[in-house]
Amino acid sequence: MDTTNMSQDWSVRMLFKTLKFLSATGISCIGTLVVILYFAQTSLIYPSSFPAGSRTEVQTPDRYDIPFEDVTVDTEDGEKLRLFVMKQSDPELRNRGKTVIICCANAGNMGHRLPIASAFYKILQYNVVLFSYRGYGLSTGKPSEGGIKIDADTVFKYVKGDKDLENTSTILYGQSLGGAVAIYLAEKYESEVAGLIVENTFLSIPALIPTLLPIAQYFTFLCHQIWPSDKSLPNITNTPVLFLSGLKDEIVPPAQMRKLFDICQSPNKVWRQFANATHNETYLKDGYWTSIIDFSSDYIDKKIQ
Ligand SMILES: *[C@@H]1O[C@H](CO)[C@@H](O)[C@H](O)[C@H]1NC(C)=O
Ligand SMILES: *[C@@H]1O[C@H](CO)[C@@H](O)[C@H](O)[C@H]1NC(C)=O
Ligand SMILES: *[C@@H]1O[C@H](CO)[C@@H](O)[C@H](O)[C@H]1NC(C)=O
Ligand SMILES: *[C@@H]1O[C@H](CO)[C@@H](O)[C@H](O)[C@H]1NC(C)=O
Repeated sequence: MDTTNMSQDWSVRMLFKTLKFLSATGISCIGTLVVILYFAQTSLIYPSSFPAGSRTEVQTPDRYDIPFEDVTVDTEDGEKLRLFVMKQSDPELRNRGKTVIICCANAGNMGHRLPIASAFYKILQYNVVLFSYRGYGLSTGKPSEGGIKIDADTVFKYVKGDKDLENTSTILYGQSLGGAVAIYLAEKYESEVAGLIVENTFLSIPALIPTLLPIAQYFTFLCHQIWPSDKSLPNITNTPVLFLSGLKDEIVPPAQMRKLFDICQSPNKVWRQFANATHNETYLKDGYWTSIIDFSSDYIDKKIQ
């Protein structure tokens, strides 16, 4: 097959797919589609109002009998972020133990991650900081890559400046989109991070589009939300990193997690896979929390001493 045929084949397929999409949605021209993909992509990529009620109702840690501070912090660009700060009551753990910053997965709000916060608090006895990105939960603003990075910076600095937590070791944990946020933070503040834990996260948003939104794969060049974990992760050269991968992940191909593991340059990297685990249920699988306990004692405690 010569290249002319191949490119014809490609454009016919593209036209066919586009027409199918247009007729399905009633949109009348490709220009409109392009404009929508470009300008509506933040709404497509950050469905922060889903599920219904996510912007108005946020469950609090007292449901899990965890004492907490309900904190609002200002970002440098004027947004107000909501945080739950859960400190251990034992002063040794509170002031000299570990603090995990949980970077939330997409959709929902931080209240939906309380089961995870609770496991870190009760099983691992970490202090836990949970926050809603701008435009999620009760935090103000609209989500975007640049904005969420400012939010992550703001929360990181908050933790480092907190009188109780200032001398604790910081661990970053992120699921899916949160994995990209955690990798961003770990690269930027590597010397101040004791460990990084990522679960079911992706190489980058453009790399994810063909699986997530096949119709948009021909328009990947329009994508301005990148989250380049594939570029940032290799810059993390010392921090211990734990990769938790659900092999039945239907949203992020597990091969992307494996690739991230392969390109990770840290000498202390650990791979744990869960055979029967889907995208948002991996943390419920047997062995998940034991993997984190082992990682914590084998890599983080040793590094601290
Ligand atoms: C943290 O360490 C500094 C320097 O050793 C000390 O002055 C401060 O009191 C410690 N903070 C806490 C909460 O223990
Ligand atoms: C990784 O580090 C290199 C060299 O310091 C730098 O040029 C690059 O921008 C970094 N990558 C990211 C994604 O920050
Ligand atoms: C896989 O998971 C599903 C639902 O989570 C469950 O019904 C099934 O029994 C599991 N299979 C195995 C082999 O563990
Ligand atoms: C995972 O997502 C599905 C919908 O995609 C939902 O039905 C299910 O309740 C979620 N499970 C958890 C543990 O969040």
